[in-house]
Amino acid sequence: MPIVIAISSFKGGTAKTSTALHVGAALAKYHKKKVLLVDFDAQANLTTGLGFDPDENDSMASVLQGNKEISAVIKKTAVNSLDIVPADTWLERVEVTGSLAADRYSHERLRDFLRPLKYDYIIIDTPPSLCWLTESALIAAHHALVCATPEFYSVKGLERLGQFMDSIHQRHPLNVLGVVLSFWNARGKSNKAFLDVIETTFPKKMLKNKIRRDIAVSEASVFGKPIFETDPESRAAEDYLEITKELLKRL
Ligand SMILES: Nc1ncnc2c1ncn2[C@@H]1O[C@H](COP(=O)(O)OP(=O)(O)OP(=O)(O)O)[C@@H](O)[C@H]1O
Ligand SMILES: [Mg+2]
Repeated sequence: MPIVIAISSFKGGTAKTSTALHVGAALAKYHKKKVLLVDFDAQANLTTGLGFDPDENDSMASVLQGNKEISAVIKKTAVNSLDIVPADTWLERVEVTGSLAADRYSHERLRDFLRPLKYDYIIIDTPPSLCWLTESALIAAHHALVCATPEFYSVKGLERLGQFMDSIHQRHPLNVLGVVLSFWNARGKSNKAFLDVIETTFPKKMLKNKIRRDIAVSEASVFGKPIFETDPESRAAEDYLEITKELLKRL
């Protein structure tokens, strides 16, 4: 059975998509794991970040609605052993359309489709809100990887995310794998205060390695490839490799 990880934070711009992409790519490229990325956000940034056109591909929406087999929507990426289920705009409000609208347990469907697949890891990228998509992803997942930035609103927002996860945990087992801080500046004046808030909300979950701010991340997305292909010597490439090793020790 695959280990399913949902990337979450109900804030926008906390590097969820970049983290999903680079942890997934690092597991496939450097750790010989078979990895499936699921783009579960109608913005489709993970999809375009890997060079796919969201308008030309089916998403999990067709599978959840029962119109497509999951095998028909899985695409191989340019990275060996790294596959993706692209996103499209149908994901937005998918839960109120078609066969999902009348299903009280619709948020459990994603789990039932993903758990039988033959991968080592499945990583689900989620939208920046606590919506049906995010809830489905957390129910499908064994682990949640929490993303945050070293900013006051981001770390305070973790408290609400923590409460949301607790409410899901009461019905479905879910482990918080760790908290990833991106856009890290080692000399930031409020770093200690941010780390203290995170420690209070998610005790012992803060990952030692942080992802530094690095223009190489946004440049790579323009090329539709992970930074390990476009700029393997970059700081962010180094940071993502280290954080992937740290995560593997926790898994
Ligand atoms: N370490 C980094 N250094 C510099 N830029 C970064 C870094 N990580 C991500 N970015 C850039 O910041 C922007 C937001 O990142 P990303 O899309 O990964 O965040 P997100 O949490 O998925 O956003 P959303 O909430 O909209 O889905 C993107 O343009 C991305 O390329
Ligand atoms: Mg995103």
